[in-house]
Amino acid sequence: MNIFMIGGGGREHALIWKLSQSRKVDKIWCAPGNGGIAALAECVPLKATDIPGLVEFARKNRPDLVFVAPDDPLALGLVDELEAIGIRAFGPHKNAAVIEASKSFAKDLMRKYHIPTAAYAVFDDPASARAYIEQQGAPIVVKADGLALGKGVTVAMTVEEAVAASDAAFGGAFGKAGARVVIEEYMTGVEASVLCFVDGEHWIAMPAAQDHKPVFDGNRGPNTGGMGSFAPSRAYTKEIAEITERTIIEPTVRAMAAEGRPFKGVLYFGLMLTAAGPRVVEYNARFGDPETQSLMPLLKSDLVPILEACIDGTLDRISVEWYDGACACVVLASGGYPGSYQKGLPIHGLGKLPRDVAAFHAGTARADGAMVTAGGRVLGITARGETLPDALAHAYEGVRCVSFDGMHYRTDIGKIG
Ligand code: AMP
Ligand code: GLY
Repeated sequence: MNIFMIGGGGREHALIWKLSQSRKVDKIWCAPGNGGIAALAECVPLKATDIPGLVEFARKNRPDLVFVAPDDPLALGLVDELEAIGIRAFGPHKNAAVIEASKSFAKDLMRKYHIPTAAYAVFDDPASARAYIEQQGAPIVVKADGLALGKGVTVAMTVEEAVAASDAAFGGAFGKAGARVVIEEYMTGVEASVLCFVDGEHWIAMPAAQDHKPVFDGNRGPNTGGMGSFAPSRAYTKEIAEITERTIIEPTVRAMAAEGRPFKGVLYFGLMLTAAGPRVVEYNARFGDPETQSLMPLLKSDLVPILEACIDGTLDRISVEWYDGACACVVLASGGYPGSYQKGLPIHGLGKLPRDVAAFHAGTARADGAMVTAGGRVLGITARGETLPDALAHAYEGVRCVSFDGMHYRTDIGKIG
């Protein structure tokens, strides 16, 4: 079969790496793809948000399956538009993708269905938001309602910082995404990302993963798109998994169906494992990045039948197998990231990676036959091992093979949390 992947980061490279191992797959296109993806797929120069362009490409080339990986095209209704022209697509419909695209929708859903999460209030004007923050006190969390490239959240340690974040959102710092603001109780605990395959009614959880958002070792510095990940999470014990499944996963899948928004695709539960039990920090309507880089190498089963079962509503009839052991992914970032950074710098040493270490490309491009940097997060150096320390040792061995000007990475992936 022929597959059309939408997206062009490390997540999409890891998914394509896995899909290309399937005997069912003949050809993969990817829009827009990147320098590394180009080795496994034909890259199509269309942005992931160019809905008319992507639909037109699908109409002409008739892929057997379109995999919509990023949040924006899901929120824009790409899956609905593809289905309208008779093309199968993996990912939630627009009315279900709202679980990520609107934080106030997600919070109201959790309140209505008694799903554990931080207490909150929603505001449409800066004055009432300020009054609420002053009344609640700090620490407190301020979130732009809509999709804001992962930048719409401020964990404020003081009232002043919270008011500034709320004013900035209302002032247009996140465009339309910040016209509504959610203010939340501050929670503490270890975070875990639990991704589930969902077919509208049934679900299968993947091993819990953990990402590392702050840019520097020891969780210092500003938040990034993710500096590394590992799976399975140590903190997500069998007992916590059982509570999460009973109080969070099953009720969320049922709630979406009951609301007439059955969720099909991957539903990502961002959890805070608090002293009072697991609580939802956020939902994503898709695979996470960089979690996916450390999950795909652990997946033993063919990914294609799982995707098809999600679309067909038959997840209860298949089983999903995982390798024992652990997987770790260390992100190599451009100098200056998450602030501004240079692009087009040559990447050295990719050919020297040990055979059991994968380099998932996040922001790379080919220029005159050489691989160069093309984004803030450049590569995810990933390895599996019998244990997490084993996987980490392999991944860091790979990291030492690769270099580019200004390259930086965290040295404590998998060591904290
Ligand atoms: P989000 O984009 O919603 O995942 O938020 C980004 C990060 O902010 C999360 O991974 C948490 O580390 C932190 N965060 C979000 N909400 C809360 C909260 N209510 N309490 C404490 N930390 C939070
Ligand atoms: N790793 C968090 C996300 O994909 O949003």
